[in-house]
Amino acid sequence: MSVELAHITDPHLPLAGARPAELLGKRVLGWLSWTLRRRHVHRREALDAIVADIRRQAENPHIVITGDLVNVSTRAEFAAARQWLERLATPENLTLIPGNHDFYVAAAARAAGGLLAPWMGGADIATPASFPFVRYVGNVALIGLNSAYPAPWREASGRLGREQLRRLEEILRQCERKGFCRVVLVHHPPLPALNTKPRKALKDADALARTLATAGAELVLFGHTHRWACREVPLAVPGASHDRKMLVLSAPSASMAPGHEAPPAGWQHIRIGRSQGEWNITVTRRALRANGEVEEQQAFTRHCPA
Ligand SMILES: [Fe+2]
Repeated sequence: MSVELAHITDPHLPLAGARPAELLGKRVLGWLSWTLRRRHVHRREALDAIVADIRRQAENPHIVITGDLVNVSTRAEFAAARQWLERLATPENLTLIPGNHDFYVAAAARAAGGLLAPWMGGADIATPASFPFVRYVGNVALIGLNSAYPAPWREASGRLGREQLRRLEEILRQCERKGFCRVVLVHHPPLPALNTKPRKALKDADALARTLATAGAELVLFGHTHRWACREVPLAVPGASHDRKMLVLSAPSASMAPGHEAPPAGWQHIRIGRSQGEWNITVTRRALRANGEVEEQQAFTRHCPA
């Protein structure tokens, strides 16, 4: 029996209904950016085409969203995001983590009001100790991190903090002992080499990469860059063979219209099966074309010791 994941990221649902009082402070920058530029590139029709393709291609997928549902974290945005999630999948069939746009300012915690918690295993950005959360789908453990925090003006950086990393290490070891395939979800790029712009970087990417390499994970899914990425990182787990590697993947924004600077919307169809002591991870990447069709772009399989 294999587990089927559909990974999308950064849907950036249309910014609707911000109250003037909510736009005081840092949110006004994000609102201007949305109004002048982002609303022309993040298009609902692109997102709808991706969702329709997931429904056609995947039989029984568990949908994974690695953050940035909204833009400036207003109450109306969270309410609209919840409605969109309700139509997309039940909490049993969808796992979500927050991105920097979902925790844009400190007031986001109150604005979110726990509306998205059912899809985050009950976790909530207002409660840092609720991350990482773990959800089990067959023999796969989805481990959700929160790298978002109310970053300073003009920054889109992320951080996890020592306490979250300590709990992550414990969870990774427990999940391995129980025989689960460990899939870690994080919004910001998890490796220092993928964090090229300090203003947008995960501040503790070094510590995260060390934790992942020593405690071990089979797959890491991230977002934030709005670009495809695929890295294979050697694990440094004591006693493990030197060819043991972790696969690290990201995808473009699921609402990016074709014809702009960033790659058009896409999603990853990931099938995880176990045979003869190995995890077999098969990835099919599908992307939106200028004609509105979603087509296969790339497919590959990796094997790692179970
Ligand atoms: Fe984003």
